[in-house]
Amino acid sequence: MQAAIHTRYGAPSVLTVADVPTPAPRAGELRLKVAASAVTQGDAWIRGGDFPGVGWLPGRLMMGLFKPKQRVPGTTFSGTVEAVGPGVQAFAVGDRVFGLAEHGAHAERLVVKADAPMARLPQGLSLQDAAVLPYGALTALHFLTQIGRVQAGERVLVVGAAGEVGRAAVQLAQHLGAVVTGVCRPSQFAEVRALGAAHVIDRDGPPLARRGARYDIIFDTAGVCGFCDVRRALAPRGRFMTLHLGVGVLVQMALTKLFGRRRALFGLALGSAAQVAELAGLWAAGAVRPRVAHRLPLTAIAEAHARRAARGLTGSVLVTP
Ligand SMILES: NC(=O)c1ccc[n+]([C@@H]2O[C@H](COP(=O)([O-])OP(=O)(O)OC[C@H]3O[C@@H](n4cnc5c(N)ncnc54)[C@H](OP(=O)(O)O)[C@@H]3O)[C@@H](O)[C@H]2O)c1
Repeated sequence: MQAAIHTRYGAPSVLTVADVPTPAPRAGELRLKVAASAVTQGDAWIRGGDFPGVGWLPGRLMMGLFKPKQRVPGTTFSGTVEAVGPGVQAFAVGDRVFGLAEHGAHAERLVVKADAPMARLPQGLSLQDAAVLPYGALTALHFLTQIGRVQAGERVLVVGAAGEVGRAAVQLAQHLGAVVTGVCRPSQFAEVRALGAAHVIDRDGPPLARRGARYDIIFDTAGVCGFCDVRRALAPRGRFMTLHLGVGVLVQMALTKLFGRRRALFGLALGSAAQVAELAGLWAAGAVRPRVAHRLPLTAIAEAHARRAARGLTGSVLVTP
């Protein structure tokens, strides 16, 4: 089968496509014919070996200190079950599924554990759109419901509202009954309003703390805010959530847990089968709509990574074998 390959860290050009043996599912695993896979910011960090903040060393230790441990990249997937290993009860040949793999999704075939974060596609969801959901929407769902515990009527500010996680966060927060403000480029205002934001703010305008508005949740998906920068823009029981691990947020998490009512929060959205199934339900309820900005063949994997790195992107980059 054909698969994207990377044997060293670097620019998108380190990615090539090669013929590799088709993997066979072992006990508890299944093999999919991959329909599509998104190129995510996480895939870009892994390809570059360039993990932000204090994540550099843990990232390199997990992914390979000097070169990638896993030759075939790609984490989100959609596809059709083609073979099942012994002991697999939950899925059968022919099932259309989507979810999150540890690696290997940028290929024609993918072997995953049957208990991976994965679910069947709901009626009407295309395989292409399904491949987008397990990254941005899964992360936004985890942060809004498990970490920030957003409540109906709360005011939620999403920094980076046109990005992958930000777009999903705007949609899901609005679905959960929050009044959403999106921070993005003026050229993206209409798009972010259409996703469900009641208000939009120019990212290059005055700092949040000087604007006078208060929010119950400030969700920084862009990695550009610190807790101290936005503290004054938080309501008395407000929560600041960031996707980016740094020393500052770790210190603020500890301090705000002990003192004061406003909280700084970080977490990791690792995904579970239950969350992917929940996403399927949310898609069916119209709460989250993926948008594909670029769709490229697997053979153009390097170009797909280059497009993912472009600024001003509103939508996901998909590769299809
Ligand atoms: N903790 C976790 O579990 C977890 C899970 C998933 C992702 N992540 C991390 O979360 C981050 C975001 O992921 P993503 O896929 O959403 O990235 P993304 O698609 O690149 O979105 C980031 C958005 O932030 C915007 N932005 C940049 N600077 C800004 C500023 N000063 N003010 C407002 N917006 C600004 C970007 O706009 P332009 O591109 O137009 O500049 C982009 O739209 C990544 O670093 C990723 O690794 C963490």
